[in-house]
Amino acid sequence: MTDNRRPDTMTRITTPALAQAFIDEQIAALRAQIGDKKVLLALSGGVDSSVVAALLIKAVGQQLVCVHVNHGLLRKGEPEQVIRVFRDEMNANLIYVDATDRFLDKLAGVTDPERKRKIIGGEFIEVFAEEARKLDGIEFLAQGTIWPDILESEKGIKAHHNAGGLPDDMKFELVEPVKILFKDEVRVVGKALGLPDNMVFRQPFPGPGLGVRCPGAITRDRLEAVRESDAILREEFAKNGLEGKVWQYFTVVPDFKSTGIKDGRRAFEWCVIIRAVNTSDAMTATVEDIPFALMRHLVERITHEVPGVNRVLYDFTPKPTGTIEWE
Ligand code: XMP
Repeated sequence: MTDNRRPDTMTRITTPALAQAFIDEQIAALRAQIGDKKVLLALSGGVDSSVVAALLIKAVGQQLVCVHVNHGLLRKGEPEQVIRVFRDEMNANLIYVDATDRFLDKLAGVTDPERKRKIIGGEFIEVFAEEARKLDGIEFLAQGTIWPDILESEKGIKAHHNAGGLPDDMKFELVEPVKILFKDEVRVVGKALGLPDNMVFRQPFPGPGLGVRCPGAITRDRLEAVRESDAILREEFAKNGLEGKVWQYFTVVPDFKSTGIKDGRRAFEWCVIIRAVNTSDAMTATVEDIPFALMRHLVERITHEVPGVNRVLYDFTPKPTGTIEWE
């Protein structure tokens, strides 16, 4: 296995050739570490876990068991893409768990943002642990830890989100094949492994997902409005050359209604707030200057295509004073 630390002399992986050399090296190291044993991986569909999955599939094939937990707070099309890419195209051993009802039942009526996060994180571990217990002979747990995670946890900035969390009786040896890589390097490696661009170059997406974009108590109707409006926003940003240019963009549906008119009748409905920001480190952020014609088109599409929505607003607030997410 690679050393625990990124060597000071390591060349930044910026080209397909450098990525391929890293991949070949890792495949050999993974085979040496894992032998004929089984490895478990929580596959979210995010860049890091997807690259780890693709590396492990190349290294140990069916000895890898991926678990994709759908907490009901994923973006439109995400679970389907994970299944298509990993199970159908890469022939991975993938367990798909639709735990939507479980998560939404636990979250019903919960308004405090931090409690919502705790419930989502705790339930995720429970669902994953339940799946792990059903399996025999797993000795390794693979994680998409990257180099900044290690640096930040060493500096005490954030608890390394990948480390631990599983119940004490579940002991696995860790497999962390991208732990010496920076995020941009993980993307170059992902591309060289043949992962689709919208997986490799995707914008950041928080673990609690659309749950923090449905401020206050999450309800299924508002969650659907967030998911549908987010899909429209992503589609329009892609069509208009803003995908990959704007750092993060999404929609929020707050928990109040306003009066409007639809088909000549009073329509008391939700509003959609669009947020689109640029930043380098997420500590501060500026608002994207969306062309007005595109804004008008977004309003037109969202108010006509998303059920229960009669108004669209744009959040002009930089960070600070606003945070990027609304919760
Ligand atoms: P804020 O809202 O703090 O967001 O300005 C900064 C960046 O962090 C993401 N974010 C999260 N990511 N779990 C995550 O994995 C979370 O609970 C969480 N909260 C915020 C946010 O999307 C933005 O990129």
